[in-house]
Amino acid sequence: MTKMPELVSMFNGMGGACAALISLIELNHHYHTGEAAQTGMMIAIVAGLIIGTVSFSGSIIAYLKLNGTMNKPVRLPSYNVINTIVMIGMFAFGAYFVYTGGNMMLAYLMFFAAAVYGILFTVPIGGADMPVVISLLNSFTGLAAAFGGFLYDNKVMLTGGILVGSAGTLLTLVMCKAMNRPLSNVIFGAFGGGGESNGGPDVKGSIKDMTVSDASILLNYSKKVVIVPGYGLAVAQAQHVIHELETLLEERGVEVKYAIHPVAGRMPGHMNVLLAESNVDYGKLVEMDEINPELEHTDVVLVVGANDVVNPAAKTDPSSPIYGMPILEVDKAKNIIVNKRSMSAGYAGIENLLFYDPKTSMLFGDAKKALTQLVAELKTL
Ligand code: TAP
Repeated sequence: MTKMPELVSMFNGMGGACAALISLIELNHHYHTGEAAQTGMMIAIVAGLIIGTVSFSGSIIAYLKLNGTMNKPVRLPSYNVINTIVMIGMFAFGAYFVYTGGNMMLAYLMFFAAAVYGILFTVPIGGADMPVVISLLNSFTGLAAAFGGFLYDNKVMLTGGILVGSAGTLLTLVMCKAMNRPLSNVIFGAFGGGGESNGGPDVKGSIKDMTVSDASILLNYSKKVVIVPGYGLAVAQAQHVIHELETLLEERGVEVKYAIHPVAGRMPGHMNVLLAESNVDYGKLVEMDEINPELEHTDVVLVVGANDVVNPAAKTDPSSPIYGMPILEVDKAKNIIVNKRSMSAGYAGIENLLFYDPKTSMLFGDAKKALTQLVAELKTL
C-alpha cells in the first residue's frame, strides 16, 4: 500500500503518454493523407497532445520522487512566474497550431514544450505532497483520454476519460479538504519533502521513554483504549499484530477502538484498507469527528507510526504549516503512548509537541517489533 502512489503515478504517466501518442499518430496520418481536419478535431488532437504529455512527464517526476530517486524539491528562482509563463506560452502555441493547421515539426516541438512544462510543474513540489499531485495528474490523463474519445467518436473512451478525469478531480479536492490546504498551497510547495524535523515550534521540556513492560501494564489495566494508526504502521506492516493486540485486550475486558484520520498514511482510505486486511471489525474504525469527543474519556491512546495527524500545532500554532488541518485530539486522553522509531518528523517535516506532553510516553522501536513484544508481554500478565 505504501508503494501504491508510485505505481499509480507510473500507470498514470503511461496513460498520458498513450493520449499524446494518439494525437501524434493522428496528426501524422492527417498530414500524410492530406485529409482536411475540422477545427474541432484539431482542438481535440492538440489538447490531447498537450495535456497527455504534461501528465506523462509530470507523472514520471512524481514516480522518481516517490521512490526516492529525486528526494528533494528543486526550487528554481521565481519558478511560479516561469511556470505560469511557460503554461501561457504553451496554450498560445496550441492555439496557433490549430489556427494554422501546423505541421509535424511543430507537433514534435509542442510535445517537447509540454514535456518540459510537466517537469517544471512537478519538480518543485515536496515529495510527500505527490499523492495529491498524482491525483491531479490522473484527472489530466482522464481529460486527455476523453479528447481521444472525441477524436475517434468512441463513446467508451470518452466516458472512461470523463470518469477518470472527474474522479481524479474529486479525489484531489477531498485530499486537500482533509488537509485543510488549498490546492494552490500544494502546487506551490509549502511543505518540505519530509524527513528530519526542519521547523515548527521551539521545543521546551523533555520526552519520557517507556519500556514494553510499562506499556503492557498500562494497557492491561485500562478500561478504554483508542489506537491511532499512521503511515509508520503501514511501512512496518504491523496491521496483523495490532489486531492481535486489540483481540488480547478485548479478551481482558478493555474496550478498543481505532481512530481513523482521513489522511493518515499516504493514500485516501489507506488505514481502512490496511486494517481490513488483518480482519479488524469495520465497526471498530471510528472517523475523526466521531472519535474526538470520546478521547477525553479514554484511558490510553496508543499512537502507532502516526505523527502529523496527532500534532496539536495544527490547532495551537498559527505559524505551523499544518495550522488549520483537522487532527485527532489525542492530547485530551488520560495517557498517550507513542510508538515510532526515533524523534524524526513525519510528512510535514515539523516538530510535534505531543511527544513532550507530560501525559505522553514514547515507546521507541519499529512498530511491528514493538507491538510483537507488547503482545508477548501482555500474554504473561
Ligand atoms: P506521518 O506524519 O508521515 O508520520 C509517520 C511517522 O511514522 C513518522 O514520524 C515516523 O517516525 C514513523 N514511522 C516510520 N516508519 C516506522 C516504523 N517502521 N515503525 C514505527 N514508526 C514508524 O504520518 P501520519 O500521521 O499518518 O500522517 C500522514 C501525513 O501524510 C499527513 O501529513 C498527511 O497530510 C500526508 N498525506 C496524506 C495523504 C493521504 S490521502 N493519506 C496524501 C498526501 C499527504 P520515525 O521515523 O521516528 O519512526
